Amino acid sequence: MSDLDPVQLIAAKRDGAKLSASDLDAFVDAYTNGAVPDYQMSAFLMAAYLNGLSPAEAAALTDAMLQSGTHIDLSDVPGVKVGKHSTGGVGDKVSLILVPLVASCGVPVAKLSGRGLGHTGGTLDKLESIPGFHFDLPVDAYRQQVTDVGGVIAGQTGEVAPADKKLYALRDVTATVDSIPLIAASIMSKKLAEGNDALVLDVKCGRGAFMTTEAEAQTLAEMLVAIGAEHDTPVVAMMTNMDVPLGRAVGNWPEVREAIACLRGEHAEAPLMQIVRGLAGEMIALGGAAESPEAGQETARAALESGDALERFRRLVEAQGGNPAVIDDPDTRPDSASVATVTAPAGVGGYVADLDARSIGQAAVELGAGRQKKEDTVDLVAGLTELKKPGDAVEDGDVLARLHASESPDLDAARTAVLDAYSFSDTPPASSAALKARYTPDGWS
Ligand code: URA
Repeated sequence: MSDLDPVQLIAAKRDGAKLSASDLDAFVDAYTNGAVPDYQMSAFLMAAYLNGLSPAEAAALTDAMLQSGTHIDLSDVPGVKVGKHSTGGVGDKVSLILVPLVASCGVPVAKLSGRGLGHTGGTLDKLESIPGFHFDLPVDAYRQQVTDVGGVIAGQTGEVAPADKKLYALRDVTATVDSIPLIAASIMSKKLAEGNDALVLDVKCGRGAFMTTEAEAQTLAEMLVAIGAEHDTPVVAMMTNMDVPLGRAVGNWPEVREAIACLRGEHAEAPLMQIVRGLAGEMIALGGAAESPEAGQETARAALESGDALERFRRLVEAQGGNPAVIDDPDTRPDSASVATVTAPAGVGGYVADLDARSIGQAAVELGAGRQKKEDTVDLVAGLTELKKPGDAVEDGDVLARLHASESPDLDAARTAVLDAYSFSDTPPASSAALKARYTPDGWS
């Protein structure tokens, strides 16, 4: 480490001082290499959690974690590459639709994704439900696929931001995960390593998200964009609603199926597709294939209608070893029939008033679709489909959700979680916007 003693650095943060980039860099470097022990890093993390980090400190921490590993170089891939990240939610299959969609509009997209944890799903688990699909790509294959197919979704290897991996594990056991600057630095250290020239971030807000209030989501969005600016990477942050699950399917294969239907042009006006088009418009404009995000949305609409986006998904799946037959005919994927239903209780006649995303995420975990702990395995076909959503008419005995599982989960626990998620009313509820707000270095709009 530099001249600064770790104890002095921890004391400085404890007392509210601002730390220099070189001190943070040396501290993170020493921790990654084992020279600073967990107990000192834990003390620092708690001081940062309680006193916060300035945007400059968060940017320096990001840089230190980014520099701890591989920074993928895509400069020889033609075009302006644009990445995408979501802070995570329930039923969030946006990347499955968005990556091929934007690639089919001429903007290359390189994406490193993760697995699901708790009530939120992960893109890698979803893609793994396509027989044969693999995502452990060496950097050369990742680069080649961006060049050839225009899109890649790979797993994050241990070479990307290893400091973040070590720090995240420590945060998990020291009650320091839900700190906005630590989350922002963690996300951006991985996103900046992907090799893209610009980023669009889906900052989810609501019961089913990390950020449950708009105020928290706003602070996170502003910090993510500021870190991007410090790294000369244009970032657009979109705040989107995560009070209710996205779409009508939750679970790995169930969500892939729904994404294929969306790429086929079904559900075009659903909130899920409003978010997809909103993010696509931004990505296509940042990538220079449209003059504005609004024009980018029209480009995206045309690519969905022409079938180009679906064809690009097929190519991406095939390039990564997946069986394209399940894209052409999802019914060929075995084991996916529903095993039970949840029906509307007596006396609820009227409308679905509300659907709690967190409870539905919990039901998916009960069915085996998610992980309680990192080491758990997931049942790739488990989940929920045909979810009734707020505003849908409902009568006694109507199916609210179909449950899927290939193993023998606790169906009663899943049913209870589904019923707990619903509330009903005699009149249709007011609709809430899927896309809430947009933040760039120019401010909120
Ligand atoms: N996602 C991340 O990548 N890091 C965090 O700290 C929280 C969510």
